[in-house]
Amino acid sequence: ETYTVSEILKKESSIFQSVSIKGWVRTFRANRFIALNDGSTLNNIQCVVDFEKFDEDLLKRITTGAAIHVMGDLVESQGKGQKVEIQVNTLEVLGDSDPETFPIQPKKHSFEFLREQAHLRTRTSTFSAVMRLRSSLSFAIHKYFNENGFYYMHTPIITGSDAEGAGEMFRVTSLDAKNPPLNEKGHIDYTEDFFGKETNLTVSGQLEAETYAMSLGKVYTFGPTFRAENSNTSRHLAEFWMIEPEVAFMDLAGNMDLAEDFLKFVLKYILEHNLEDLTFLDTRLQNEEKTKPQAERSDMGLIDKLKFVTENNFMRLSYTEAIEILRNSKPNKKKKFKYLINEWGTDLQSEHERFLVEKHFKCPVILFDYPANIKAFYMRLNEDGKTVRAMDILFPGIGEIVGGAQREERLDVLKEKMAAIDIPEEDLWWYLDLRKYGTAVHSGFGLGFERLVMFATGMGNIRDVIPFPRTPQSAEF
Ligand code: 4AD
Ligand code: MG
Repeated sequence: ETYTVSEILKKESSIFQSVSIKGWVRTFRANRFIALNDGSTLNNIQCVVDFEKFDEDLLKRITTGAAIHVMGDLVESQGKGQKVEIQVNTLEVLGDSDPETFPIQPKKHSFEFLREQAHLRTRTSTFSAVMRLRSSLSFAIHKYFNENGFYYMHTPIITGSDAEGAGEMFRVTSLDAKNPPLNEKGHIDYTEDFFGKETNLTVSGQLEAETYAMSLGKVYTFGPTFRAENSNTSRHLAEFWMIEPEVAFMDLAGNMDLAEDFLKFVLKYILEHNLEDLTFLDTRLQNEEKTKPQAERSDMGLIDKLKFVTENNFMRLSYTEAIEILRNSKPNKKKKFKYLINEWGTDLQSEHERFLVEKHFKCPVILFDYPANIKAFYMRLNEDGKTVRAMDILFPGIGEIVGGAQREERLDVLKEKMAAIDIPEEDLWWYLDLRKYGTAVHSGFGLGFERLVMFATGMGNIRDVIPFPRTPQSAEF
């Protein structure tokens, strides 16, 4: 019978004897010990070869990266580090791997190097652990919503609306790019397009999710989103996945409760189900920390950080309160926060966010009631006429992980806000209809999936938590 390594390692050696297993060779030591991995788990199974029983030419083909099929007896291991091992009876090479050219050698490779080998990097322990965690987190996300009465909705990828109004969209067109039809003004004539108008890849499924919240009550989307922002940072991708719940009759306080409960649930889920991978990544991270100067070292390991978040309340405070704290703070001995002196109304820079989360409160922070002018048009205006019912959740080491809001449900106010930033009513007539027919308080948020995976794995660069990162100048795969 064929088993995965994960299944075999869970069994006691006495339960079954004869096993068949397929995987990729990690190492072959002393012409005797094959460390075989099939991706089902972090661990390798040790396969012990009696080299006198096998053809020398066959053994030469057992190289790092080769795919092999092993049949043998599962026995208690004599060596340290594993309970069981396989005494090999038959050995078949399914796919050779030339050790001279195979890029993933059994040694430490830099993440930069491995990024260029995105198609092979999950053959390493670190990347396979990260991707198993990514899979587990997405399962936990669906589980949470499913258990809490939410319906899963698919919102369009190709869309005519710019949900965030930030103009950071990738255009989608069926027109001949080299020779597009032009109108009298000399502009590209999108009425000639397959869609009959200018269309883009979605930046967020929120507006469409709102339509479903206003009929099914509690819904969420979980899909790819695209931003044509030319930011070359360790926290931005041009293509990323976003989770966006949207709930009718829920206000901003309810939105904060939902986000906090949800984040705690998914992190608890991986602590319960993926401890092996987490422990491995924790050790990796702690070794990396040791190479840093004492002052910059994190005093908490990965698992401690995850537990801390699941066990403690998030700090909630308004933007205005945060600005007050920042104004009175010195991030280092010499300087105060230079960007913020008397600057109510400006957006926080990531150094401010990190100061609040990592130095001041030392826990996740929910900031709410932001100045209207730095947030999207659809957010509910407060009675002060200056702030909107927005919330951002800031996480240690990550900064903004969630952005959300209570939505503007009053038709007249929404129309005014759209007019102020030149969004034509015709463009969003269906969105306005939601406010015309049975409008109600409703709220939701967007969680950047890769930022969650970064936090959960301790990886420092967002390119290393998505299988094929899309960033400026990178779309190789
Ligand atoms: O704050 P954002 O732009 O909010 C929205 O798009 C809302 N429509 C969400 C909603 O209320 N339904 O994006 C939400 C989250 C951010 O907090 C961040 O975690 C992530 O998406 N994000 C990115 N992640 C990776 N790369 C990028 N370029 C990102 N831009 C945003
Ligand atoms: Mg945001």
